[in-house]
Amino acid sequence: MNKTILITGTSSGLGKLTAIHFAKLGWNVAATMRTPENETELTQYSNVKLFKLDVTDVEQVRTAVADAIKAFGRIDVVINNAGVGAYGALELAMEETIDWQFGVNVRGPINVIRAMLPHFRANKSGMFITISSFMGVTTAVPTGSLYNMSKFALEGLIEGLYYELKPLGIELRLVEQGGSSGNNFVSKIAWGHSEEITDYDDITAKVKGMMAKSSEGELDDPQTIVDAIARLALGESKQFRTLVGEAAHQLTEMRKSLPIEEYLERIAAQYQ
Ligand SMILES: NC(=O)c1ccc[n+]([C@@H]2O[C@H](COP(=O)([O-])OP(=O)(O)OC[C@H]3O[C@@H](n4cnc5c(N)ncnc54)[C@H](OP(=O)(O)O)[C@@H]3O)[C@@H](O)[C@H]2O)c1
Repeated sequence: MNKTILITGTSSGLGKLTAIHFAKLGWNVAATMRTPENETELTQYSNVKLFKLDVTDVEQVRTAVADAIKAFGRIDVVINNAGVGAYGALELAMEETIDWQFGVNVRGPINVIRAMLPHFRANKSGMFITISSFMGVTTAVPTGSLYNMSKFALEGLIEGLYYELKPLGIELRLVEQGGSSGNNFVSKIAWGHSEEITDYDDITAKVKGMMAKSSEGELDDPQTIVDAIARLALGESKQFRTLVGEAAHQLTEMRKSLPIEEYLERIAAQYQ
């Protein structure tokens, strides 16, 4: 029987690319997104079915998961991919932006995992692959505290879950990639801003400049991330944490090799 994968956030970027990759591998794909009515690419694949799923809407998550199980009979792997970025000085963030950052990146995977667990428990098997970031294991840039918070929280959630799910035959994997091309992530970032408070203007402008420069060609090929995800889903890699990309490797190596005080100063010095 063909295996089935459910993926969140398949309207663009990594989620869409992963959905297409698994469809081409012959898997059934439950491609979930907030606006399936707008999708024209994934509808070309007969083994892909679309489901409306906003990860912050608990009822919609439960309905989409139930509908996907009904449509395919079984789900083997779930990819928690949907994610957003809130950047800018913490002091300048709108209250709703803080909740949005936590809601999509942390509460969202919690909602999906909780909705899926009865099915995985009944099957005594199943795998959650959660898309974190190198920003889930280290800080890398000023004004990224909210995004760091969300991905660090995600890492803690998945690592903590390991102990209760292992005895049930349910597997957990984390993917920590660096900046990649071919997605809407940077263009959709919510930036904190204030006309009155200008103390953060310089550092914010430097981070924005760095991101704009990165988008001109220093980014990882997203297919390397998809290939890493596929190795995990196919059982070719059993790694709990998979770090992808040159920049992500360099930064995390630097973090491991230096005392934290020195690491923080080195990153800060790049933005002075
Ligand atoms: N791009 C990078 O540089 C980078 C680096 C490290 C980690 N990541 C992580 O990689 C993952 C994929 O991002 P990407 O790079 O492919 O960016 P992307 O193109 O912006 O994709 C993000 C996806 O998440 C969806 N999404 C946003 N809010 C949602 C919600 N409430 N419910 C369901 N789906 C929602 C978006 O759907 P809509 O079209 O409906 O908004 C979109 O499909 C994210 O977890 C991100 O944090 C990205």
